[in-house]
Amino acid sequence: MHEFAFKNNELYCEDIKIAEIAKRVRTPFYLYSYKTLIDHYRKIKNAFRTIRPLICFSVKSNSNLAVLRALIRNGAGLDIVSGGELYRARLAGCDPKRIVYAGVGKRRDEIEDAIRFGILFFNVESEEELEEIQNAAFRLKKKVNAAIRINPDVIPRTHAYIATGKGETKFGLDFETVHKIFNTGWKYPNVNIGGVHIHIGSQILDASPFEKAIKKVLVFLKECNIKISYFNIGGGLGIVYSIENPQTAKSFARKILPLLKRSGLKLILEPGRFISGNSGVLITKVIYTKITPRKKFIIVDSGMSELIRPSLYEAYHKIVPVKVPRNSSETAEKIEVVGPICESGDFLGKDRFLPRLVHGDLVAVMGAGAYGFTMSSNYNSRPRPSEVMVIGNKFYVVRRHERYGDLVRGETIPKVLK
Ligand code: LLP
Repeated sequence: MHEFAFKNNELYCEDIKIAEIAKRVRTPFYLYSYKTLIDHYRKIKNAFRTIRPLICFSVKSNSNLAVLRALIRNGAGLDIVSGGELYRARLAGCDPKRIVYAGVGKRRDEIEDAIRFGILFFNVESEEELEEIQNAAFRLKKKVNAAIRINPDVIPRTHAYIATGKGETKFGLDFETVHKIFNTGWKYPNVNIGGVHIHIGSQILDASPFEKAIKKVLVFLKECNIKISYFNIGGGLGIVYSIENPQTAKSFARKILPLLKRSGLKLILEPGRFISGNSGVLITKVIYTKITPRKKFIIVDSGMSELIRPSLYEAYHKIVPVKVPRNSSETAEKIEVVGPICESGDFLGKDRFLPRLVHGDLVAVMGAGAYGFTMSSNYNSRPRPSEVMVIGNKFYVVRRHERYGDLVRGETIPKVLK
């Protein structure tokens, strides 16, 4: 469920007509619903309430400060993967003891910053990284917590680029190496290895690969007699983009809770898309329509630079007009909704049936709240769009659109070229 709905043929976000926002904010822009964001966070929180887990929202899915702040105020922690995300977490006012830090390539300076800030856990992905953390903690005279990320070698049914729990991926460590690390814990006197972590992939629609992975890890911990206190089961819960029928938070918890309860471990979850995905849409405007002998195109003012998911993963995002023209019927022919970028792969939707749209009409690209703005770029020197948050009947520009000056910020022409 989300708070983007039609009333009298006009698309609303919560209590505001999106067309009204577009009169005051230039397109394209990302639009987030506060209520949807918090509702989705609460769905997970409530589903697992009996064991009071730490829910660390995955910043990579949507890192806007207002989004982070909204979730933090409602009790969320954060899952970060870089010094930049740590910086955002600090600005958003996150309690360091509610931050977990994953990623295979943490740099020394990033590790030091995180130690100084006092985060809860590093999710460690290699032995060399563990040594780097040990050395940094020693230099800073600190004792830090680490969870070892295990690669459980399970196959989640999802796009190959976002399946992380298979043995051949770069993520986590195999059971044997993890065993070795726990046995040589004394080599890392400044690191308390107090947890394990898994993250098997993203946009996973049923709980079985999670169950499989969790069971594998629990058996391993038991067999090796490893004593820890935290189990971080990552993120990855899928959402509805089109006709998917993903598990609900409740049904997911029903399967996972018994496993965790028996283990007595404290649970950490790192959902991103589940919370932010359907909390945001991309609002874009029709620039031209174009009929070729083969196809009909609608060219809009955003493309792969604003939302790369269709180009990168052939991901489906529903596209709807913000105002449905009266007496409109959907066109009989298939339409391709494309952007202005100079690449054939620059499309937002293929084979769509839409009402007749003309220059200036607004469309909403749905389900764009996760991995939308955060994966946007300045390709073709396009300033990135603004981000707007709706709370009830008010809207707030939570990031202004970039200007041309932003495109060249930091660039210089060497004197010899002048
Ligand atoms: N934790 C870790 C360690 C992760 O790597 C990720 C996502 C998450 C949590 C959150 O996963 P979620 O709950 O959002 O599925 N760009 C891709 C998704 C990449 C996911 C990367 N890792 C997309 O647009 O589909």
